Amino acid sequence: MTDKLIIFDTTLRDGEQSPGASMTRDEKLRIARQLERLKVDVIEAGFAASSNGDFEAVKAIAAAIKDATVCSLARANDRDISRAAEALRGANSARIHTFIATSALHMEKKLRMTPEEVLQQARMSVRFARNLCADIEFSPEDGYRSDPDFLCRVLEAVIDEGATTLNIPDTVGYAIPELYGNFIKTLRERVPNSDKAIWSVHCHNDLGMAVANSLAGVKIGGARQVECTINGLGERAGNCSLEEIVMAVKTRRDYFNLDLRIDATQIVPASRMVAQTTGFVVQPNKAVVGANAFAHASGIHQDGVLKARDTYEIMRAEDVGWAANKIVLGKLSGRNAFKQRLQDLGISLDSEAEVNTAFMKFKDLADRKSEIFDEDILALVNDESVSADVEHYRLLALSQQSEMGERPHAKVAFSAGLTEYHAESDGNGPVDASLKAIESKIASGAELLLYSVNAITSGSTESQGEVTVRLQHGGRVVNGVGADPDIVVASAKAYLAALNKLHSKAERVAAQG
Ligand code: KIV
Ligand code: ZN
Repeated sequence: MTDKLIIFDTTLRDGEQSPGASMTRDEKLRIARQLERLKVDVIEAGFAASSNGDFEAVKAIAAAIKDATVCSLARANDRDISRAAEALRGANSARIHTFIATSALHMEKKLRMTPEEVLQQARMSVRFARNLCADIEFSPEDGYRSDPDFLCRVLEAVIDEGATTLNIPDTVGYAIPELYGNFIKTLRERVPNSDKAIWSVHCHNDLGMAVANSLAGVKIGGARQVECTINGLGERAGNCSLEEIVMAVKTRRDYFNLDLRIDATQIVPASRMVAQTTGFVVQPNKAVVGANAFAHASGIHQDGVLKARDTYEIMRAEDVGWAANKIVLGKLSGRNAFKQRLQDLGISLDSEAEVNTAFMKFKDLADRKSEIFDEDILALVNDESVSADVEHYRLLALSQQSEMGERPHAKVAFSAGLTEYHAESDGNGPVDASLKAIESKIASGAELLLYSVNAITSGSTESQGEVTVRLQHGGRVVNGVGADPDIVVASAKAYLAALNKLHSKAERVAAQG
Protein backbone atom coordinates (compact mmCIF):
# COMPACT_ATOMS: atom_id res chain seq x y z
CA MET A 1 0.00 0.00 0.00
CA THR A 2 1.30 3.51 -0.79
CA ASP A 3 0.76 6.68 1.22
CA LYS A 4 0.09 10.04 -0.32
CA LEU A 5 2.59 12.86 0.04
CA ILE A 6 0.90 16.27 0.33
CA ILE A 7 2.64 19.07 -1.56
CA PHE A 8 2.17 22.38 0.24
CA ASP A 9 3.43 25.24 -1.91
CA THR A 10 4.48 28.41 -0.12
CA THR A 11 5.94 30.36 -3.06
CA LEU A 12 3.35 33.09 -2.52
CA ARG A 13 4.06 33.41 1.22
CA ASP A 14 7.51 32.22 2.32
CA GLY A 15 8.88 32.60 -1.22
CA GLU A 16 7.55 36.12 -1.42
CA GLN A 17 9.38 37.03 1.80
CA SER A 18 12.61 37.03 -0.21
CA PRO A 19 13.68 40.70 -0.44
CA GLY A 20 12.64 41.99 -3.85
CA ALA A 21 10.25 39.12 -4.60
CA SER A 22 7.06 40.79 -3.43
CA MET A 23 4.24 40.52 -5.94
CA THR A 24 1.02 42.32 -6.73
CA ARG A 25 -2.37 40.72 -6.23
CA ASP A 26 -2.66 39.99 -9.95
CA GLU A 27 0.80 38.45 -10.14
CA LYS A 28 -0.01 36.21 -7.18
CA LEU A 29 -3.31 35.21 -8.72
CA ARG A 30 -1.63 34.24 -11.99
CA ILE A 31 0.92 32.11 -10.15
CA ALA A 32 -1.82 30.53 -8.01
CA ARG A 33 -3.64 29.47 -11.17
CA GLN A 34 -0.44 27.87 -12.44
CA LEU A 35 -0.01 26.08 -9.09
CA GLU A 36 -3.53 24.75 -9.50
CA ARG A 37 -2.62 23.41 -12.95
CA LEU A 38 0.48 21.87 -11.37
CA LYS A 39 -1.93 20.18 -8.95
CA VAL A 40 -0.29 21.12 -5.69
CA ASP A 41 -2.47 20.11 -2.76
CA VAL A 42 -2.19 23.31 -0.73
CA ILE A 43 -1.41 26.86 -1.86
CA GLU A 44 -0.22 29.14 0.93
CA ALA A 45 -1.46 32.35 -0.68
CA GLY A 46 -0.03 34.87 1.78
CA PHE A 47 -0.21 36.32 5.23
CA ALA A 48 -3.58 38.07 5.29
CA ALA A 49 -2.97 40.18 8.39
CA SER A 50 0.38 41.52 7.22
CA SER A 51 -1.02 44.15 4.84
CA ASN A 52 -4.14 45.12 2.95
CA GLY A 53 -2.41 44.08 -0.27
CA ASP A 54 -1.77 40.59 1.03
CA PHE A 55 -5.29 40.33 2.45
CA GLU A 56 -6.72 41.14 -0.99
CA ALA A 57 -4.37 38.67 -2.66
CA VAL A 58 -5.41 35.82 -0.34
CA LYS A 59 -9.05 36.74 -0.84
CA ALA A 60 -8.76 36.78 -4.64
CA ILE A 61 -6.90 33.47 -4.69
CA ALA A 62 -9.43 31.89 -2.31
CA ALA A 63 -12.23 32.93 -4.66
CA ALA A 64 -10.49 31.76 -7.85
CA ILE A 65 -8.93 28.42 -6.90
CA LYS A 66 -11.20 25.40 -6.92
CA ASP A 67 -8.81 22.45 -7.06
CA ALA A 68 -6.45 23.08 -4.15
CA THR A 69 -6.74 24.05 -0.51
CA VAL A 70 -5.98 27.76 -0.07
CA CYS A 71 -4.13 28.69 3.10
CA SER A 72 -3.21 31.90 4.91
CA LEU A 73 -0.49 32.30 7.50
CA ALA A 74 -1.42 33.94 10.83
CA ARG A 75 0.56 34.66 13.96
CA ALA A 76 -0.87 32.97 17.04
CA ASN A 77 -3.24 35.76 18.00
CA ASP A 78 -6.95 36.36 17.52
CA ARG A 79 -6.58 39.36 15.21
CA ASP A 80 -4.30 37.61 12.71
CA ILE A 81 -6.42 34.47 12.77
CA SER A 82 -9.66 36.41 12.23
CA ARG A 83 -8.11 38.27 9.27
CA ALA A 84 -6.98 34.97 7.76
CA ALA A 85 -10.44 33.46 8.19
CA GLU A 86 -12.05 36.53 6.63
CA ALA A 87 -9.73 36.46 3.60
CA LEU A 88 -10.36 32.74 3.13
CA ARG A 89 -14.14 32.99 3.38
CA GLY A 90 -14.78 32.36 -0.32
CA ALA A 91 -12.51 29.31 -0.59
CA ASN A 92 -13.69 25.90 -1.70
CA SER A 93 -11.28 24.40 0.79
CA ALA A 94 -9.54 26.66 3.33
CA ARG A 95 -6.72 26.25 5.83
CA ILE A 96 -5.44 28.58 8.54
CA HIS A 97 -1.74 28.16 9.32
CA THR A 98 -0.87 29.62 12.68
CA PHE A 99 2.59 29.77 14.25
CA ILE A 100 4.54 30.83 17.31
CA ALA A 101 8.23 30.40 18.09
CA THR A 102 9.18 27.65 20.55
CA SER A 103 12.99 27.73 20.71
CA ALA A 104 14.50 29.15 23.91
CA LEU A 105 16.33 31.76 21.86
CA HIS A 106 13.23 33.02 20.04
CA MET A 107 10.98 32.91 23.12
CA GLU A 108 13.42 34.83 25.28
CA LYS A 109 14.94 37.31 22.82
CA LYS A 110 12.20 37.82 20.23
CA LEU A 111 8.88 37.15 21.92
CA ARG A 112 10.00 37.96 25.49
CA MET A 113 7.63 35.31 26.73
CA THR A 114 8.09 32.40 29.11
CA PRO A 115 7.65 28.86 27.76
CA GLU A 116 4.41 28.51 29.75
CA GLU A 117 3.03 31.68 28.14
CA VAL A 118 3.95 30.39 24.69
CA LEU A 119 2.31 27.04 25.39
CA GLN A 120 -0.84 28.80 26.54
CA GLN A 121 -0.91 31.13 23.54
CA ALA A 122 -0.42 28.24 21.10
CA ARG A 123 -3.27 26.35 22.75
CA MET A 124 -5.68 29.31 22.80
CA SER A 125 -4.89 30.32 19.22
CA VAL A 126 -5.54 26.87 17.80
CA ARG A 127 -8.76 26.70 19.81
CA PHE A 128 -9.82 30.08 18.40
CA ALA A 129 -8.83 29.14 14.84
CA ARG A 130 -10.59 25.80 15.00
CA ASN A 131 -13.88 27.61 15.63
CA LEU A 132 -13.41 29.47 12.35
CA CYS A 133 -11.99 26.76 10.08
CA ALA A 134 -11.91 22.96 10.14
CA ASP A 135 -8.42 22.66 8.66
CA ILE A 136 -5.76 24.07 11.01
CA GLU A 137 -2.02 23.84 10.63
CA PHE A 138 0.25 24.71 13.52
CA SER A 139 3.97 25.51 13.25
CA PRO A 140 6.37 25.91 16.16
CA GLU A 141 8.71 28.44 14.57
CA ASP A 142 12.39 27.50 14.93
CA GLY A 143 10.99 24.10 15.88
CA TYR A 144 14.17 22.20 15.03
CA ARG A 145 16.19 24.24 17.56
CA SER A 146 13.55 23.85 20.27
CA ASP A 147 13.84 21.72 23.39
CA PRO A 148 12.16 18.41 22.41
CA ASP A 149 10.44 17.98 25.81
CA PHE A 150 8.84 21.41 25.61
CA LEU A 151 8.01 20.97 21.92
CA CYS A 152 6.23 17.69 22.65
CA ARG A 153 4.06 19.43 25.26
CA VAL A 154 3.13 22.20 22.80
CA LEU A 155 2.37 19.77 19.99
CA GLU A 156 0.25 17.53 22.21
CA ALA A 157 -1.72 20.58 23.39
CA VAL A 158 -2.44 21.93 19.91
CA ILE A 159 -3.55 18.52 18.63
CA ASP A 160 -5.92 18.39 21.60
CA GLU A 161 -7.30 21.74 20.50
CA GLY A 162 -7.93 20.46 16.97
CA ALA A 163 -4.81 21.16 14.88
CA THR A 164 -4.98 18.85 11.86
CA THR A 165 -1.43 19.37 10.52
CA LEU A 166 1.75 19.83 12.55
CA ASN A 167 4.57 21.46 10.67
CA ILE A 168 8.10 21.34 12.11
CA PRO A 169 10.17 24.16 10.58
CA ASP A 170 13.92 24.24 10.35
CA THR A 171 13.54 28.01 10.22
CA VAL A 172 17.23 28.85 9.96
CA GLY A 173 18.36 25.92 7.80
CA TYR A 174 20.50 24.39 10.56
CA ALA A 175 19.45 20.75 10.24
CA ILE A 176 21.35 17.74 8.88
CA PRO A 177 19.27 15.11 7.03
CA GLU A 178 19.71 12.16 9.38
CA LEU A 179 19.28 14.32 12.50
CA TYR A 180 16.20 16.11 11.16
CA GLY A 181 14.61 12.81 10.06
CA ASN A 182 15.20 11.36 13.53
CA PHE A 183 13.91 14.54 15.18
CA ILE A 184 10.56 14.18 13.39
CA LYS A 185 10.49 10.46 14.20
CA THR A 186 11.13 11.13 17.90
CA LEU A 187 8.43 13.77 18.08
CA ARG A 188 5.92 11.45 16.44
CA GLU A 189 6.83 8.67 18.85
CA ARG A 190 6.70 10.83 21.97
CA VAL A 191 3.59 12.94 21.37
CA PRO A 192 0.79 10.70 22.68
CA ASN A 193 -1.90 11.88 20.21
CA SER A 194 0.48 12.19 17.22
CA ASP A 195 -1.65 9.92 15.04
CA LYS A 196 -4.47 12.49 15.07
CA ALA A 197 -2.56 14.90 12.81
CA ILE A 198 -0.57 14.90 9.58
CA TRP A 199 3.10 15.72 10.11
CA SER A 200 4.79 18.17 7.83
CA VAL A 201 8.34 19.33 7.10
CA HIS A 202 9.43 22.90 6.30
CA CYS A 203 13.14 23.33 5.64
CA HIS A 204 15.22 26.36 4.74
CA ASN A 205 18.28 26.04 2.56
CA ASP A 206 21.02 27.92 4.41
CA LEU A 207 23.39 24.95 4.27
CA GLY A 208 22.08 23.74 0.91
CA MET A 209 20.26 20.80 2.52
CA ALA A 210 16.60 21.85 2.47
CA VAL A 211 15.58 19.17 -0.02
CA ALA A 212 17.71 16.45 1.62
CA ASN A 213 16.37 17.38 5.06
CA SER A 214 12.76 17.34 3.84
CA LEU A 215 13.23 13.93 2.22
CA ALA A 216 14.76 12.60 5.45
CA GLY A 217 11.79 14.01 7.35
CA VAL A 218 9.56 12.02 5.03
CA LYS A 219 11.57 8.80 4.88
CA ILE A 220 12.94 8.54 8.43
CA GLY A 221 10.43 10.73 10.24
CA GLY A 222 7.24 9.64 8.51
CA ALA A 223 6.11 13.15 7.55
CA ARG A 224 3.41 13.17 4.88
CA GLN A 225 3.43 16.83 3.89
CA VAL A 226 6.35 18.79 2.43
CA GLU A 227 6.38 22.59 2.34
CA CYS A 228 8.27 23.95 -0.62
CA THR A 229 8.52 26.73 -3.21
CA ILE A 230 8.95 26.91 -6.97
CA ASN A 231 12.65 27.35 -7.83
CA GLY A 232 13.38 27.14 -4.08
CA LEU A 233 12.43 30.83 -3.84
CA GLY A 234 12.67 32.25 -0.35
CA GLU A 235 14.53 34.42 2.10
CA ARG A 236 18.32 34.09 2.30
CA ALA A 237 19.24 30.80 0.58
CA GLY A 238 15.58 29.99 0.01
CA ASN A 239 13.17 27.18 0.82
CA CYS A 240 13.03 23.55 -0.15
CA SER A 241 12.53 23.45 -3.91
CA LEU A 242 9.25 21.95 -5.13
CA GLU A 243 10.62 20.64 -8.41
CA GLU A 244 13.45 18.77 -6.70
CA ILE A 245 11.24 17.19 -4.04
CA VAL A 246 8.63 16.16 -6.57
CA MET A 247 11.07 14.68 -9.05
CA ALA A 248 13.05 12.89 -6.31
CA VAL A 249 9.90 11.22 -5.01
CA LYS A 250 8.66 10.39 -8.52
CA THR A 251 11.98 9.22 -9.95
CA ARG A 252 12.85 7.17 -6.85
CA ARG A 253 9.39 5.77 -6.26
CA ASP A 254 11.14 2.44 -5.69
CA TYR A 255 12.61 3.95 -2.50
CA PHE A 256 9.96 6.38 -1.25
CA ASN A 257 6.86 4.42 -2.29
CA LEU A 258 4.68 7.53 -2.13
CA ASP A 259 1.95 8.88 -4.39
CA LEU A 260 1.81 12.49 -5.55
CA ARG A 261 -1.04 14.35 -7.20
CA ILE A 262 1.36 16.68 -9.07
CA ASP A 263 1.22 17.06 -12.88
CA ALA A 264 4.97 17.30 -13.46
CA THR A 265 4.58 18.62 -17.02
CA GLN A 266 3.56 21.93 -15.43
CA ILE A 267 6.83 22.29 -13.51
CA VAL A 268 8.87 24.18 -16.11
CA PRO A 269 6.01 26.58 -16.98
CA ALA A 270 5.60 27.27 -13.25
CA SER A 271 9.33 27.81 -12.83
CA ARG A 272 9.42 30.28 -15.73
CA MET A 273 6.40 32.15 -14.51
CA VAL A 274 7.87 32.59 -11.03
CA ALA A 275 11.28 33.61 -12.40
CA GLN A 276 9.78 36.10 -14.84
CA THR A 277 7.40 37.57 -12.29
CA THR A 278 9.90 38.00 -9.46
CA GLY A 279 13.06 38.61 -11.49
CA PHE A 280 14.81 35.84 -9.55
CA VAL A 281 16.45 34.02 -12.42
CA VAL A 282 17.15 30.30 -12.29
CA GLN A 283 20.80 29.26 -12.38
CA PRO A 284 21.56 27.22 -15.56
CA ASN A 285 22.74 24.15 -13.64
CA LYS A 286 19.74 24.08 -11.28
CA ALA A 287 18.27 20.57 -11.01
CA VAL A 288 15.14 19.94 -13.10
CA VAL A 289 14.42 23.55 -14.16
CA GLY A 290 17.87 24.96 -15.04
CA ALA A 291 18.54 25.59 -18.73
CA ASN A 292 21.30 22.95 -18.68
CA ALA A 293 19.43 20.37 -16.60
CA PHE A 294 18.89 18.17 -19.65
CA ALA A 295 21.68 19.42 -21.92
CA HIS A 296 24.38 16.93 -22.75
CA ALA A 297 27.48 18.79 -23.81
CA SER A 298 30.19 16.16 -23.78
CA GLY A 299 30.60 13.96 -26.84
CA ILE A 300 30.54 10.75 -24.81
CA HIS A 301 27.24 11.70 -23.16
CA GLN A 302 25.65 12.84 -26.43
CA ASP A 303 26.66 9.59 -28.09
CA GLY A 304 25.24 7.56 -25.20
CA VAL A 305 21.94 9.45 -25.11
CA LEU A 306 21.50 9.04 -28.87
CA LYS A 307 21.97 5.28 -28.53
CA ALA A 308 19.78 4.87 -25.44
CA ARG A 309 18.38 7.80 -23.47
CA ASP A 310 18.64 6.12 -20.10
CA THR A 311 22.44 5.82 -20.37
CA TYR A 312 22.67 9.36 -18.99
CA GLU A 313 19.07 10.48 -18.34
CA ILE A 314 17.14 9.55 -15.21
CA MET A 315 14.19 11.80 -16.10
CA ARG A 316 12.78 12.88 -19.44
CA ALA A 317 12.84 16.60 -20.19
CA GLU A 318 9.32 16.50 -21.64
CA ASP A 319 7.96 14.90 -18.43
CA VAL A 320 8.76 18.07 -16.50
CA GLY A 321 7.50 20.40 -19.23
CA TRP A 322 10.61 21.16 -21.23
CA ALA A 323 8.87 20.50 -24.54
CA ALA A 324 7.30 23.93 -24.49
CA ASN A 325 9.99 25.71 -26.51
CA LYS A 326 7.86 25.91 -29.63
CA ILE A 327 6.69 28.71 -31.84
CA VAL A 328 3.15 29.52 -30.88
CA LEU A 329 2.17 32.69 -32.67
CA GLY A 330 3.43 34.91 -35.47
CA LYS A 331 2.94 38.21 -37.15
CA LEU A 332 -0.30 37.16 -38.82
CA SER A 333 -1.98 35.77 -35.72
CA GLY A 334 -5.18 37.58 -34.85
CA ARG A 335 -6.60 38.88 -31.60
CA ASN A 336 -8.64 35.73 -30.98
CA ALA A 337 -5.65 33.43 -31.41
CA PHE A 338 -3.70 35.66 -29.04
CA LYS A 339 -6.52 35.66 -26.49
CA GLN A 340 -6.80 31.88 -26.72
CA ARG A 341 -3.05 31.51 -26.11
CA LEU A 342 -3.32 33.75 -23.05
CA GLN A 343 -6.07 31.48 -21.78
CA ASP A 344 -4.02 28.32 -22.46
CA LEU A 345 -1.21 29.85 -20.45
CA GLY A 346 -3.61 30.56 -17.61
CA ILE A 347 -3.35 34.30 -17.98
CA SER A 348 -6.56 36.17 -17.40
CA LEU A 349 -6.29 39.90 -17.91
CA ASP A 350 -8.80 41.91 -15.96
CA SER A 351 -10.39 43.89 -18.76
CA GLU A 352 -10.73 44.06 -22.53
CA ALA A 353 -8.62 47.22 -22.36
CA GLU A 354 -5.77 45.17 -20.89
CA VAL A 355 -6.17 42.50 -23.58
CA ASN A 356 -6.00 45.25 -26.20
CA THR A 357 -2.84 46.73 -24.71
CA ALA A 358 -1.24 43.28 -24.54
CA PHE A 359 -2.31 42.53 -28.12
CA MET A 360 -0.82 45.79 -29.39
CA LYS A 361 2.43 44.93 -27.63
CA PHE A 362 2.33 41.46 -29.16
CA LYS A 363 1.88 42.92 -32.66
CA ASP A 364 4.69 45.32 -32.05
CA LEU A 365 6.93 42.47 -30.94
CA ALA A 366 5.87 40.23 -33.86
CA ASP A 367 6.92 43.00 -36.26
CA ARG A 368 10.41 42.91 -34.82
CA LYS A 369 10.75 39.22 -34.00
CA SER A 370 9.63 36.56 -36.44
CA GLU A 371 8.95 33.76 -33.96
CA ILE A 372 6.95 34.29 -30.79
CA PHE A 373 7.25 31.70 -28.01
CA ASP A 374 5.19 31.15 -24.87
CA GLU A 375 8.01 32.76 -22.91
CA ASP A 376 7.69 35.91 -25.02
CA ILE A 377 3.98 36.09 -24.25
CA LEU A 378 4.58 35.62 -20.54
CA ALA A 379 7.21 38.36 -20.60
CA LEU A 380 4.85 40.60 -22.47
CA VAL A 381 2.03 40.33 -19.96
CA ASN A 382 4.46 40.56 -17.07
CA ASP A 383 5.45 43.90 -18.51
CA GLU A 384 3.83 46.31 -16.11
CA SER A 385 2.48 48.57 -18.78
CA VAL A 386 -0.12 45.87 -19.60
CA SER A 387 -1.85 46.19 -16.26
CA ALA A 388 -2.66 49.81 -15.78
CA ASP A 389 -2.93 49.62 -11.98
CA VAL A 390 0.71 50.01 -10.97
CA GLU A 391 2.31 52.01 -13.72
CA HIS A 392 3.51 55.47 -12.86
CA TYR A 393 6.65 55.61 -14.99
CA ARG A 394 6.39 54.55 -18.61
CA LEU A 395 9.07 54.37 -21.27
CA LEU A 396 8.10 56.32 -24.39
CA ALA A 397 11.22 56.29 -26.57
CA LEU A 398 14.88 55.50 -26.37
CA SER A 399 17.78 56.03 -28.72
CA GLN A 400 21.42 55.52 -28.03
CA GLN A 401 24.65 55.83 -29.84
CA SER A 402 27.66 53.66 -29.19
CA GLU A 403 30.78 53.21 -31.19
CA MET A 404 33.95 51.34 -30.36
CA GLY A 405 36.35 53.70 -28.62
CA GLU A 406 33.70 56.41 -28.09
CA ARG A 407 31.75 57.18 -24.93
CA PRO A 408 28.12 56.04 -25.47
CA HIS A 409 25.28 58.54 -25.30
CA ALA A 410 21.55 57.85 -24.73
CA LYS A 411 18.35 59.87 -25.11
CA VAL A 412 15.33 58.65 -23.19
CA ALA A 413 11.73 59.90 -23.19
CA PHE A 414 9.47 58.66 -20.44
CA SER A 415 6.39 59.73 -18.56
CA ALA A 416 5.90 60.03 -14.82
CA GLY A 417 2.18 60.33 -14.22
CA LEU A 418 1.05 63.09 -16.53
CA THR A 419 4.48 64.67 -16.96
CA GLU A 420 6.66 63.79 -19.92
CA TYR A 421 10.44 63.88 -19.55
CA HIS A 422 13.18 64.01 -22.16
CA ALA A 423 16.59 63.24 -20.78
CA GLU A 424 20.04 62.45 -22.09
CA SER A 425 23.31 61.30 -20.65
CA ASP A 426 26.67 59.75 -21.36
CA GLY A 427 27.68 56.53 -19.68
CA ASN A 428 30.23 53.74 -19.56
CA GLY A 429 28.01 51.75 -21.88
CA PRO A 430 24.63 52.33 -23.55
CA VAL A 431 22.76 50.74 -20.62
CA ASP A 432 24.59 52.89 -18.10
CA ALA A 433 23.92 56.00 -20.24
CA SER A 434 20.18 55.19 -20.47
CA LEU A 435 19.72 54.59 -16.75
CA LYS A 436 21.73 57.72 -15.93
CA ALA A 437 19.49 59.71 -18.27
CA ILE A 438 16.39 58.48 -16.39
CA GLU A 439 17.98 59.23 -13.02
CA SER A 440 18.94 62.74 -14.15
CA LYS A 441 15.21 63.59 -14.04
CA ILE A 442 13.87 61.33 -11.29
CA ALA A 443 16.73 61.46 -8.78
CA SER A 444 15.22 58.44 -7.02
CA GLY A 445 18.15 57.97 -4.68
CA ALA A 446 17.73 54.21 -5.11
CA GLU A 447 20.77 51.98 -4.89
CA LEU A 448 21.26 49.48 -7.71
CA LEU A 449 21.85 46.08 -6.08
CA LEU A 450 21.68 43.85 -9.13
CA TYR A 451 21.57 44.07 -12.90
CA SER A 452 21.31 40.91 -15.00
CA VAL A 453 20.45 40.03 -18.60
CA ASN A 454 19.14 36.68 -19.85
CA ALA A 455 17.89 35.40 -23.16
CA ILE A 456 14.19 34.53 -22.75
CA THR A 457 14.38 31.63 -25.17
CA SER A 458 17.73 29.92 -25.27
CA GLY A 459 19.86 29.06 -28.26
CA SER A 460 19.35 32.07 -30.49
CA THR A 461 20.50 35.69 -30.67
CA GLU A 462 17.01 36.48 -31.97
CA SER A 463 15.68 35.91 -28.48
CA GLN A 464 14.34 38.79 -26.43
CA GLY A 465 16.66 39.94 -23.70
CA GLU A 466 15.14 39.84 -20.26
CA VAL A 467 16.69 42.24 -17.82
CA THR A 468 16.30 42.19 -14.04
CA VAL A 469 17.13 45.26 -12.00
CA ARG A 470 17.10 45.17 -8.20
CA LEU A 471 16.85 48.49 -6.37
CA GLN A 472 16.99 49.38 -2.70
CA HIS A 473 15.51 52.49 -1.21
CA GLY A 474 14.13 53.45 2.19
CA GLY A 475 14.52 49.94 3.58
CA ARG A 476 12.71 48.31 0.66
CA VAL A 477 14.19 46.05 -1.98
CA VAL A 478 12.34 45.63 -5.28
CA ASN A 479 12.96 43.84 -8.54
CA GLY A 480 11.98 45.19 -11.95
CA VAL A 481 11.89 43.00 -15.03
CA GLY A 482 11.84 44.24 -18.63
CA ALA A 483 11.94 42.34 -21.90
CA ASP A 484 12.71 43.49 -25.42
CA PRO A 485 14.72 42.26 -28.40
CA ASP A 486 16.92 45.32 -27.72
CA ILE A 487 18.63 44.83 -24.36
CA VAL A 488 19.16 48.55 -23.81
CA VAL A 489 15.40 49.10 -24.14
CA ALA A 490 14.81 46.05 -21.91
CA SER A 491 17.13 47.62 -19.33
CA ALA A 492 15.29 50.93 -19.31
CA LYS A 493 11.96 49.08 -19.00
CA ALA A 494 13.31 47.01 -16.11
CA TYR A 495 14.63 50.10 -14.37
CA LEU A 496 11.31 51.93 -14.70
CA ALA A 497 9.45 48.78 -13.57
CA ALA A 498 11.55 48.72 -10.39
CA LEU A 499 10.90 52.44 -9.85
CA ASN A 500 7.16 51.74 -10.31
CA LYS A 501 7.34 49.17 -7.53
CA LEU A 502 9.09 51.62 -5.23
CA HIS A 503 6.46 54.18 -6.16
CA SER A 504 3.44 51.93 -5.47
CA LYS A 505 4.21 51.26 -1.81
CA ALA A 506 0.76 50.16 -0.77
CA GLU A 507 0.40 47.57 -3.51
CA ARG A 508 3.32 45.40 -2.67
CA VAL A 509 4.16 44.72 0.89
CA ALA A 510 5.89 41.42 1.44
CA ALA A 511 4.54 39.40 4.29
CA GLN A 512 7.09 39.19 7.05
CA GLY A 513 6.86 36.50 9.70
O1 KIV B 1 10.42 29.07 8.48
C1 KIV B 1 9.48 29.18 9.28
O2 KIV B 1 9.61 28.95 10.49
C2 KIV B 1 8.20 29.61 8.75
C3 KIV B 1 7.03 29.45 9.65
C4 KIV B 1 6.21 30.68 9.70
C5 KIV B 1 6.24 28.25 9.24
O3 KIV B 1 8.09 29.98 7.61
ZN1 ZN C 1 9.87 29.35 6.42
